[in-house]
Amino acid sequence: VVLVLDYGSQYTQLICRRIREIGIFSMMFPGDASMVKSGAVGGEYGRMPILIQPGSTLYSHRAALDAPSPNVWMSHGDEAAALPEGFSCVARSEQGAVVAIECPGKKIFGLQYHPEVMHTEGGTDTIRHFLLDIAGVKADWTMAEVLETQLKLVAEQVGPEEHAICALSGGVDSTVAATLIHRVLGDRLHCVFVDHGLLRYKEAERVMATFTEHLHLPVTLVDDSAKMLAKLKGLTDPEAKRKCIGGHFIEVFDEYAKKLERELGIKPKFLVQGTLYPDVIESCPPPGSGQKHSHTIKSHHNVGGLPKDLQFKLIEPFRELFKDEVRAIGRLLGVPEAFIRRHPFPGPGMGVRILGDVTVGDRLDVLRAVDEIFIETIKEFGLYDQIWQAFAVFLPIKSVGVQGDQRTHSHVVGLRAVTSGDGMTADWYPFTPDFLRTVSSRICNKVRSVNRVVYDITSKPPSTIEWE
Ligand code: XMP
Repeated sequence: VVLVLDYGSQYTQLICRRIREIGIFSMMFPGDASMVKSGAVGGEYGRMPILIQPGSTLYSHRAALDAPSPNVWMSHGDEAAALPEGFSCVARSEQGAVVAIECPGKKIFGLQYHPEVMHTEGGTDTIRHFLLDIAGVKADWTMAEVLETQLKLVAEQVGPEEHAICALSGGVDSTVAATLIHRVLGDRLHCVFVDHGLLRYKEAERVMATFTEHLHLPVTLVDDSAKMLAKLKGLTDPEAKRKCIGGHFIEVFDEYAKKLERELGIKPKFLVQGTLYPDVIESCPPPGSGQKHSHTIKSHHNVGGLPKDLQFKLIEPFRELFKDEVRAIGRLLGVPEAFIRRHPFPGPGMGVRILGDVTVGDRLDVLRAVDEIFIETIKEFGLYDQIWQAFAVFLPIKSVGVQGDQRTHSHVVGLRAVTSGDGMTADWYPFTPDFLRTVSSRICNKVRSVNRVVYDITSKPPSTIEWE
């Protein structure tokens, strides 16, 4: 295991990911050294070249013909004023600042730039060289092995007569989790898919077909849309909406579990969830931090607000995995490729894509129609797999337009499409003018109550991917 010390950088998770991509298990732990700010000069930010000195151990993997000045990603305000005894500088920035040091005798190496960021040329090679050649770590961590381990763990955790329930969201994580657990428990797994009225166009129909026809999962569809929408009526604050939706989910699971007991005499002891490592990092103090490890899930998560007296034990086979790793496990389990490549969809669904009160007028119908046109056009242009996530947003404002010879005062919708590695950071997708023109014209022609389409060109940070 390679431990990555977390000093609060937004890049820490990326380092973990890069190490895992090399085939080595890696986890984040909090750093305990105090960070001393130099207070110097404004720092170095963004992509810039560094000059690698010849003869170092850290860069000995580089071929003689490799450019001596690769571009790397900088993001810091500190500068090494003096090197510790026994250390030498093995790379400098354009400004002459020290950006890499080493003391091979003590096997201590330090980088100030970010080798884990995609924009750093040769960054992954440097991490691989450090881990495999210098530190001597073996690259034997594969998804096939993770899958085997998880299958064994579940078999040990759940007794031969015990049952589990799983809330399927229609997304990759919960679907792959259920498929994995189903391998072990068979009919002792009971899945429920809740239509909370905030789903995309024909979503319930489409995912139910995959669950039953392709994955043969035992799944019950619960249509709870009327109750959910009644609860949401009048709510406009994003957090209040999220909490309301998350809390309602739990009530539905509880009710479903009671029904199993009433009608079939089955009392499930376990709740299966597709919780990912980023959810855990954001919501729990990491192990080893000295703080009590908790199961609190951020309100962001689709079962946000798990009650303290939860009557189920949790089974979360992906608590230590990133999304692309779960996708790899899904492939090993035979989940259809088209399903695996689906864009993520948040638990609260369109509840966080309609700004303000979800239940006013025809907002949900308008958004569903716009979203469907957007996604279908993306597919038609062959762009779906290049995009991490694309969706439409309903804005609670009206704008003036002209349709035919008529003045209109109608809805405005936003379109958002981003590229990302894991949803933690993201950049907006640069559609061509032709695509934007086509999609905007289709939306305004087919959805008559929309007269304006805007495209969101903000990265995360400073925005988030969802609008609420
Ligand atoms: P944000 O908006 O935080 O989203 O940048 C990052 C990723 O997480 C998804 N997301 C959610 N997923 N329940 C979920 O299951 C949620 O409450 C939720 N909120 C955001 C979002 O779609 C993006 O992929």
